[in-house]
Amino acid sequence: MGRVRVCRMDELSETTARRFEHDGHVVVVSLAASEPRALRDQCPHRGIALSGGIVRNGILTCPGHFWRFDLRDGHCIGRPWEVVPSFECMVVDGWVEIDLPPPQAKRSMRELLLAHARDPHWQHRDT
Ligand code: FES
Repeated sequence: MGRVRVCRMDELSETTARRFEHDGHVVVVSLAASEPRALRDQCPHRGIALSGGIVRNGILTCPGHFWRFDLRDGHCIGRPWEVVPSFECMVVDGWVEIDLPPPQAKRSMRELLLAHARDPHWQHRDT
């Protein structure tokens, strides 16, 4: 897909998360150490939108059950096997641009269930 311009740098802050949608991608964008960071706007636990969460010190806390994600790379604090996909961000003339992959092909329910069953960490997840 390539780079997508999402907002101006001065529209972001270190304490807010903003949601953007583009061609099937839903992304949450915030600042960490003054750098824009973008993650898929979906918690890997129960699928709640992370953009409804709280941002402090580069950590985005999910509003669902308070799992915490590092905005730099999307890994979950204390559960390193849980990772939210992250997307490269660039600042061009004061605009934040995100490098988004092509939209994923939709998977059947059977494919989703098989992928879930093969996940070696699934049995260790909290409820
Ligand atoms: S849905 Fe995010 S921690 Fe449960």
